Amino acid sequence: MADLLLGQVLHFTADPFVAGEAAAHHESHGAILVENGRISATGPADDLRRRHPQARIHDYGRALITAGFIDAHVHYPQTAIIASWGKRLIDWLNSYTFPEEMRFADPAYAATIANRYLDLATAHGTTTVCTYATIHPASVDAIFTAAQSRGLRLYAGKTCMDRNAPPGLCDTAQSAYDDSKALLQKWHGVDRLSYVITPRFSPTSTPEQLAALGALWREYPDCLMQTHLSEQTDEIAWVRDLFPQSRDYLDTYEAQGLLREGAVYGHAIHLTERERARLIDAGASLVHCPTSNTFIGSGLFDMSLARSLRVGLATDTGGGSSFSMLHTMAAAYEVAQLRGQALHPSQLLWLATIGSARALRAEDRIGNIAPGMEADLTILDLASTPAIAQATARAETLWEALFPTIMMGDDRAIRTVWVGGKPLR
Ligand code: GUN
Ligand code: ZN
Repeated sequence: MADLLLGQVLHFTADPFVAGEAAAHHESHGAILVENGRISATGPADDLRRRHPQARIHDYGRALITAGFIDAHVHYPQTAIIASWGKRLIDWLNSYTFPEEMRFADPAYAATIANRYLDLATAHGTTTVCTYATIHPASVDAIFTAAQSRGLRLYAGKTCMDRNAPPGLCDTAQSAYDDSKALLQKWHGVDRLSYVITPRFSPTSTPEQLAALGALWREYPDCLMQTHLSEQTDEIAWVRDLFPQSRDYLDTYEAQGLLREGAVYGHAIHLTERERARLIDAGASLVHCPTSNTFIGSGLFDMSLARSLRVGLATDTGGGSSFSMLHTMAAAYEVAQLRGQALHPSQLLWLATIGSARALRAEDRIGNIAPGMEADLTILDLASTPAIAQATARAETLWEALFPTIMMGDDRAIRTVWVGGKPLR
């Protein structure tokens, strides 16, 4: 049976970084018809009700229905160490991250955290994530199994590290290749799941390991490849010491076949001119993680790159300080303000939906509300707290009604989410 969702409906017909706020279409009394997991029609509520009298009605009143949020860079194994105090990147990894990731040698612990993480993500309105696992293959099985049981579209890969990490967290070039390949063959394309080839970052991979993963990527070119790039200046100096023959940080990946379309680089804050030009030329994707970049003290991403590159938005849990893509949009706004770039609410919402979908090369399936798209939807209460309700009381436009929720909203603003055409809770 078809479902008909009623509410305010927002979707995009163009890129607001190019077309401005006219890129968004707002139906104040709108409807979305959902059949067999996909959106089959959208339009004014009266129209769709008349044309589909048999459909089951879900009336969300004045709530805003958007595409589900897409978090393009997270580390689900860091769920329990979110908000750990007082360190910058390398110390933070050694003090908090690596000890926690060691615990994922226990598959039962991995399953517990995978389920806890996905419960938190969906409670915050996120319907797709692209996540790093740990070096343990069972940590990949855990997150894919948890996503599969919820019907989520999800991207994940085994994190590969063969140096500069504790012995219990190191693989080798060969075992990284073998384990990644086995996981890829097991999970890639099963239901809504996609495997992502995942070298953690150049400081924790030898050139041999990067080359082995580059070779794997050539064998499975339709996969994504994710890693970190130029997050913090100390890290960049370390990469310079570790790879004296490389022109720059990006070159450590480029030299091993890890730069092309489908490469998804987290952070990418401190880029040289050559790196920018090569990223654009190669059609690579960048993922902005603003709460992480302020929390770990990394720097301010240059959002003007969104005009020439696929840029997604992400929490970077648990370097990031929130599970919420609303908080993340707020942080993106604040970071851009510090760079003199005032992002419009349409641009913020676009980054959290289509922007991330494009970064993951999935914009033909998720990230927007249009016939044929998978029915992953987030229903937002635009007056979820007294503080937000009073700020929106005088709103005359959708953007004035939405911006307080972007800036101050949290999981209380998430009325519900639909995943693959079904309400999740
Ligand atoms: N660089 C390499 N690994 C990580 C990580 O786990 N978090 C962040 N923020 N940066 C990284
Ligand atoms: Zn990360």
